[in-house]
Amino acid sequence: MPKFSSLVNRIAGEGAAAWDTHFRAKQDFSDGKDVIIMSVGDPDFPTPASIIDVAVEALRSGDTHYSEITGRTKLRKAIAEETMRVSGSDSYKVAPENVMVMAGTQNALFGASLCLLESGDEVIILDPMYVTYEACMGIMGATLVRVATPRSNGFRPDISTIEKAITPKTKAIAFATPNNPTGVVMTKVELQAIADLAIKHDLWVIADEVYAAQTFEQPHFSIAALPGMQDRTVTCSSLSKSQAMTGWRIGWMVGPEELINHADNLGLAMLYGVPPFIQEAAFDALTASRHEISGMLEIYRKRRDLVSGLLTKATNAHVLIPEAGMFVLLDIAETGMTANEFARRLYGSENVSALDGAAFGEPAASCVRLSFTSSEKQLEEGCRRILRFLASLNA
Ligand SMILES: Cc1ncc(COP(=O)(O)O)c(C=O)c1O
Repeated sequence: MPKFSSLVNRIAGEGAAAWDTHFRAKQDFSDGKDVIIMSVGDPDFPTPASIIDVAVEALRSGDTHYSEITGRTKLRKAIAEETMRVSGSDSYKVAPENVMVMAGTQNALFGASLCLLESGDEVIILDPMYVTYEACMGIMGATLVRVATPRSNGFRPDISTIEKAITPKTKAIAFATPNNPTGVVMTKVELQAIADLAIKHDLWVIADEVYAAQTFEQPHFSIAALPGMQDRTVTCSSLSKSQAMTGWRIGWMVGPEELINHADNLGLAMLYGVPPFIQEAAFDALTASRHEISGMLEIYRKRRDLVSGLLTKATNAHVLIPEAGMFVLLDIAETGMTANEFARRLYGSENVSALDGAAFGEPAASCVRLSFTSSEKQLEEGCRRILRFLASLNA
C-alpha cells in the first residue's frame, strides 16, 4: 500500500481506552441487558416535531439541490441574532456576513483550526478540554499547549498560568464556555482577563459555546462581545445540544468577515454547503420553534439537581455541581482507584457506564463524568447503583 500523509498520525489521538466501557455498555444495551448509560452527551429528547416537519416539507417540495456555501441569508441572519442574544451583551453586533453555516460545532472548530493554525504555531487550550480538540486543533501541525484549569480551583481558569504559557509562537487561545466536562461557565471577569491577554499578545481566541443556551445559574457571556475582541474571536456553536439535534449536523462559525471569506473558500473545497432542507429546519429551530429550548433546559436543571442531590450522599466521593450542560463530575480520588479503573469496576458490578475524566485531560483525572441525558427514573436508579458500589468499597 502507498504511504499515508503524516496527518493520519496527528488525528489518531489517545484516550480511546476511556470509551471502552461506554462501547461495551452500548452493546449490552442493544443486547437487551439492564444497563444504565451515563457516559455520553447525546440528548435523549427527540428533535421537536415542528422542526422535523419543516425539514420534511422542504424535502417534499424539492429543496434538495446545492445550497449557498456560507449558508442561506435568512439562516445566517437568524444565527447572527441568536449569537447576539446568548452573548450577554447589548452592544455586541453580529451581521450575517460574520456567519458561516457549518456541519456542527465540530466542523466549525475544524474549519477555524484550518484557517488559523499551522505548523510552528502554539495554541493554548484550557484543560480539561473536549476530547476531539487534540486532533482538531493539531491537524495542521500546531502544538497544543494544555493549560490546566485546576481541580483545586474548581476548574476555573488561572489567568497567571495562561499568561506564563504564552510564547512568541502562540497564535491562539481555545476553550469551551460552558465547559465539557466540568460544567464551568466562565464569568465576564475571567473572560475579560483572557481578552486582555489576547489583545496584548495579538492572539486569536477560539470559543466553543455549544452549551451557551444551557446554563443554570451563572449566565453565559461571549468573549467576542468584549471590546476589541470581535475581530480576533471565532465563536463556534450549533443546535446539537440546545435543540436536541446532534444527528442533523448543523452549526456555525461566527467571526470577522475576512475569516468568513476564507471559510467560504474552505467550504467550497470541503463541504459545498450544508444540505438546504437542514438549513430550513435550523431556521425554524432558531425562530418559530425557539421556545422548545426552555422546556428542555428546565428538565436538565431538574436532572442536575436530582443527580447531584443523590450523589452528595456518598462518603467516599465528591460530586461537583455543574453550572451548565448535561454532565456532572464525580471525584473518586478517595477510593484510591484511577477513574478508568473506577469506571470499569462500576460497570462490572452495577452495569452503570461512566466516562473516565482523564480522557479530557489530567486535571479531571480523579473524576468520572456522568451524563444526565436519560430519564429521571433511570438517573435515580443509576445513582442508587453508584452509591451502592461506593458503599461496597468502604465495607
Ligand atoms: C464542548 C463540545 N464541543 C463540541 C461538541 C460537538 O458538537 P456538535 O454536535 O455541534 O458538533 C461537543 C459535543 O459533545 C462538545 O461537548
